[in-house]
Amino acid sequence: MRYEDLAKEKFEKLRTKKDVLILSVESSCDETSIALVENGRKVLSNVISSQIEIHKLYGGVVPEIASRNHIKNITGVLDEALANSGKSLRDVDAVAVTFGAGLIGALLVGVNFAKTLAYALKVPLIAVSHVHGHIGANYISHPQLTPPFLCLMVSGGHTAIVEVEDYCKIKLLGWTVDDSVGECFDKVARVLGLSYPGGPNIEKLAKEGKEEIKFNYRLPLKDSYNFSFSGLKTAVVNYVHNKEQKNEEFSKADVAKSFQNIAVEELVTKTMHACRNTAAKKLVVAGGVGANMELRRQLEVQCKKNQIELFAPDLKYCTDNAAMIGSIAYYYIKVGKGLADLTLTAVPTVPI
Ligand code: KG4
Ligand code: ZN
Repeated sequence: MRYEDLAKEKFEKLRTKKDVLILSVESSCDETSIALVENGRKVLSNVISSQIEIHKLYGGVVPEIASRNHIKNITGVLDEALANSGKSLRDVDAVAVTFGAGLIGALLVGVNFAKTLAYALKVPLIAVSHVHGHIGANYISHPQLTPPFLCLMVSGGHTAIVEVEDYCKIKLLGWTVDDSVGECFDKVARVLGLSYPGGPNIEKLAKEGKEEIKFNYRLPLKDSYNFSFSGLKTAVVNYVHNKEQKNEEFSKADVAKSFQNIAVEELVTKTMHACRNTAAKKLVVAGGVGANMELRRQLEVQCKKNQIELFAPDLKYCTDNAAMIGSIAYYYIKVGKGLADLTLTAVPTVPI
């Protein structure tokens, strides 16, 4: 039987199979990760090989270096993920992989690796959107969480408010018209001389901030769910450059604190506005910036006030990992979505 026919037949069977074990692969940026996930919720293993120390030297991710390191590391990551899971390749029901959004060269490594595995094991190959994976991280951390809910998606590549009507039925309410909030954290960190990735370092430095700085900036797009962060980014960069050019003293901690406050306020205000207008009962945070404690704290306060239940992933599932891909892939299978053939390739962007 041809691989494609066999995969299709097995995929149909998995839709009603009681226990489904997925081996998932994530390589969209600078983390090489492979996980084994049972029934979308139980993580048997989740190995992440991070390249942060390498890309730190360049102040950000260098795409070609990321691809080369994925190729170097991915087989070792598979061996470790299998060993930690107590399962063997023979137990795997499907192979899932992030096919976008992300860096093309980096994604292609994972896609080709996953294809080869699926073909050799004669199991279905599931093509997963990275953004959906970030939402899936919450299903791992909160076994009781089910749709519908509203989701604030905040990562290096995305900033959006989406309505998750069902596991695989996602409606876009608002989006960033320019930079993502993660990009903005990273850029501000860079101008302050903090190392990559900027977000966690801004958060750390902000704790030492005392005075609130008034940047030359007003919150744009007041009456919309859409975000804009490039104005804030430029205002902070201009403030720092101005001080440096004039040789004036300034507190980097105050800059970090003030920037973080404005960014968080923009996210929280728009999200709560969307929650009220859609009468949401549950709010879910997804993506790397979701690791930010000030964001979590302010959302918690607002959710309490508005009687909304707040969910955020465990910190280890906030940033890129394969477990979240294995989680959402399970729900793709259950609704008959995502079955890919061996012509699957990577794409830089995927519509929500
Ligand atoms: O979700 P993610 O790991 O990758 C993408 O899909 O983009 O998000 C990475 C982004 C980076 O911009 C990083 O600086 C930011 O998440 N980030 C944070 C924090 N931890 C990671 N931003 C603010 N505060 C944090 N604690
Ligand atoms: Zn991500």
